[in-house]
Amino acid sequence: MVNAVIGLQWGDEGKGKIVDLLAQDADYTVRFHGGNNAGHTVVINGKTYKFHLIPSGIFNKQTVALVGSGVIIDPFVLVDEIKFFAKEGVNLSNKLVISPRCHLIMPYHIGLDKAYEKQRGQDKLGTTGRGIGPCFADKVSYNGIRIYELYNWELFVDKFTLQVEIKNKILKALGAKAIDTEAELLQFKNVRAEILPFIGDVYLILSKAVANNKKILLEGAHGVMLDIDWSPYPFSSGSSVVSGAINTGAGIPVKKIDEIIGVIKAYTTRVGSGPLPTELPEDLADSLREKGQEYGTTTGRSRRIGWLDLEATKFACQINSLSALAVTKLDVLSGQKEIKVCIGYTLQGKKISYEQCGYKELGQLDVVYKTFPGWSENISKIKKYPDLPRPCQNYLQFIEDQLDVPIKIVSVGSDRSASIYR
Ligand code: IMP
Repeated sequence: MVNAVIGLQWGDEGKGKIVDLLAQDADYTVRFHGGNNAGHTVVINGKTYKFHLIPSGIFNKQTVALVGSGVIIDPFVLVDEIKFFAKEGVNLSNKLVISPRCHLIMPYHIGLDKAYEKQRGQDKLGTTGRGIGPCFADKVSYNGIRIYELYNWELFVDKFTLQVEIKNKILKALGAKAIDTEAELLQFKNVRAEILPFIGDVYLILSKAVANNKKILLEGAHGVMLDIDWSPYPFSSGSSVVSGAINTGAGIPVKKIDEIIGVIKAYTTRVGSGPLPTELPEDLADSLREKGQEYGTTTGRSRRIGWLDLEATKFACQINSLSALAVTKLDVLSGQKEIKVCIGYTLQGKKISYEQCGYKELGQLDVVYKTFPGWSENISKIKKYPDLPRPCQNYLQFIEDQLDVPIKIVSVGSDRSASIYR
């Protein structure tokens, strides 16, 4: 079985928890795109773990975590994460394999990311500042450095030095701090020995696993509304987020993917700038933000809050061809007198679809809402779908009907155990 989990909104849908649930009997969990701009939170027996690079399934004894070639890696974040899990008693030596094709996020990518944002001034995009865009830009302009270059230190030094020379010209022109080649190389020398043992043939491992019917779980990061092609560009992240990225970023043929599970939060959040059609006014947003603890896993920034946007989500469902949906954080909506959901957009009085909108249109349009009565009960201990309050079931049923995808998992709390299977 090859299953995939994809975020359908602006990231932070609660994919980490759903992956952790589904990974309990997986042989492999696989990251296939993005970098450490992602932040997945898993809560097990009350303890919270935050992942940025390493796939979330590693707490399961038999599960091996794979990082596919579509992922970009900050080597220092990787080593910190490996050390963190070692302290937690999870030895990753036989549990983590990284593709040699992964590109490295370099200190100059981080410098450029921040310098570009500064230049944009008021129009800044609100990136995570992790060097994501500049690293992907280097990858497609043939200036990138793959992780396997670390095998040959002399060659790595040459490539790194050339790139620093190029990047320092840009950094200086932008008034940003130049990179100190010697100091950075010293840091690389220190982490290199810790990274090399984890590099292995992810493509081969996955090809064999598919041929032997092993259980593979692909862990999507971010969300479709941040996809490099299908987001309101330039308010995007640098990678392809849709299910097609499984093929390019992990090497698994599209026809071998059995199930794609889309994850949506029961409302909408986003961090960073850019249009958010259903955004709530601050007084209303504030209570949901506090209740849902809507602060970025990676940057700690406050997330912007909006009602569920079924116009955008419908597009995300269609482009991924989903088998099932998981709806998360339903418990956060308890206590709302009424709940709104976006069922369409109009621009200057005319209907317009998500996919017809650029960032300008998305920022100007009017949202058509349907309003639902809320429920007051605390639902976080409920284990069976029929035990959910009637208004809550009605809300879920409407989502299912509009999106035309069955809801199979409902999450009513952050812990693994707070999950309802339908
Ligand atoms: P970048 O990925 O750091 O370049 O940031 C580009 C945009 O994507 C910013 O609005 C970020 O806040 C957003 N972003 C990137 N990754 C995630 C994620 O995993 N969750 C939520 N937002 C993200």
